[in-house]
Amino acid sequence: METENWKQWREFFAARSERRLPGLDDPQDYSALPKSLARSLAVFQLGESGGGSIVQQAAGSTIPAAGPDYASAMRLFVAEEHRHAAILAICVRNLGGTLIHQHWTARLFVRARRLLGLRLKVMVLLAAEVVGICYYHLLATRLPAGRLRSLLAQVVNDERSHLHFHCSFLRSQVTTGWRRRVFVATWRAAMFVAAGIVLLDHRHALRDMGLSPSTVWRRWTAYSRLAERLVCRTPVPVDADLALLREPDVPRRVLHEVSASTV
Ligand SMILES: [Fe+2]
Ligand SMILES: [Fe+2]
Repeated sequence: METENWKQWREFFAARSERRLPGLDDPQDYSALPKSLARSLAVFQLGESGGGSIVQQAAGSTIPAAGPDYASAMRLFVAEEHRHAAILAICVRNLGGTLIHQHWTARLFVRARRLLGLRLKVMVLLAAEVVGICYYHLLATRLPAGRLRSLLAQVVNDERSHLHFHCSFLRSQVTTGWRRRVFVATWRAAMFVAAGIVLLDHRHALRDMGLSPSTVWRRWTAYSRLAERLVCRTPVPVDADLALLREPDVPRRVLHEVSASTV
């Protein structure tokens, strides 16, 4: 997909918008899984529920690279995030957990985005994509085969598209050497803060699912560097993000299955 080709992105998201939600009930027994997993997914579920204001901001933006197709693509992107919220709500329910309606990280995320212009807001969304891709993927690799794992893999697949969508926009804005330097410094700081918050807030689920902070941190760092290279036009192999998902840190037994389902 070419940079700034928002019509293609709009059509891409529109084609996916017809997907039906999975059914509510899952016959699998998840009682052996830790309670902290349901709580952790409930926090992510809340995070996936917001994002409406960026649609208006994209529609009203005077940035030349934005336009009606970009605004339409953004609206479909937000709808896809809301679909993730619905999927995660099903996962939380099947894990025996409870949905939440308020959380300090969600409030912080919303407040931070309200203060920002479109460019910085997209960068914050990109940080959320990197966090989500790695977190959902690593959790999926620790789950038994079944619907919960395949639903998380499906969400990872969507988040990979979102990462490229946001990188396309930011690439159109980072056109000079000094802009690249400002982006890299701001991006690394944003990722550091986002990753630190998630490591702290989700430490119980990470521990209970057998994921060490260093494993998660390493994965976030690799993915954030990939996003940085995509924005700064540093050549990267095709499907480098998929290759990252296939890297170690996951048990060999489930590696193939999860990677295959995220293609
Ligand atoms: Fe999402
Ligand atoms: Fe996303």
